[in-house]
Amino acid sequence: VMESLKGINRGSLRLAVASTVNYFAPRLLAVFQKRYPGIALRLDVTNREMLVQMLDSNSVDLVLMGVPPKNVDVEAEAFMDNPLVVVAPPDHPLASARDIPTERLSEEVFVMREEGSGTRKAMQRFFAERGIEIRHGMQMTRNEAVKQAVRSGLGLSVVSLHTIELELETRRLVILNVQGFPDRRQWYLVYRRGKRLSPAASAFRDFVRAEAAKIAAPIAAV
Ligand code: PGA
Repeated sequence: VMESLKGINRGSLRLAVASTVNYFAPRLLAVFQKRYPGIALRLDVTNREMLVQMLDSNSVDLVLMGVPPKNVDVEAEAFMDNPLVVVAPPDHPLASARDIPTERLSEEVFVMREEGSGTRKAMQRFFAERGIEIRHGMQMTRNEAVKQAVRSGLGLSVVSLHTIELELETRRLVILNVQGFPDRRQWYLVYRRGKRLSPAASAFRDFVRAEAAKIAAPIAAV
């Protein structure tokens, strides 16, 4: 065991994660780094479209994301639940309603992430599958901006539960009880098919498979 530990306790690892994954990725890295202090870690945080480009150009070891690509030849392993929920400000008229029919959302305006966002893609897929048209309000390139916009009354949005832990705790945002939600998606560990993973990358993959869900599962019950 000591021998193999020595083997992976050096080298470098380049990770890239979706902006939504960034809400829990540092917790994983903290545990991993403690175990393998000799591995130099580099983390890029960006949206889905950029992650797909990085996979395509082979410029990253491993990617954590919510919506793996279909047009790049990758291995994608689900490692944790990623529930998507509808968020509203606490004073929204629907805040205390139960079992809101999904179609009711077509009367609301939605704050949107940019084209290229995995969250946006997942959200559009959800409504398209149900034949529901939603009204697009303002568009913004950051989860933080979306949350502030929803809080300020600019509209509802659909976000990963992982991104709103603090807002739920402090009741700055609430989750609406809408039929079909939470949209039960998964987080994926993704890398190019056939890529020879370095010992550091393999160690991280094994670590995510075995422990990510224990370390970072979303706290709020939905
Ligand atoms: P994004 O992240 O919305 O920032 O692209 C989520 C994802 O890849 O699913």
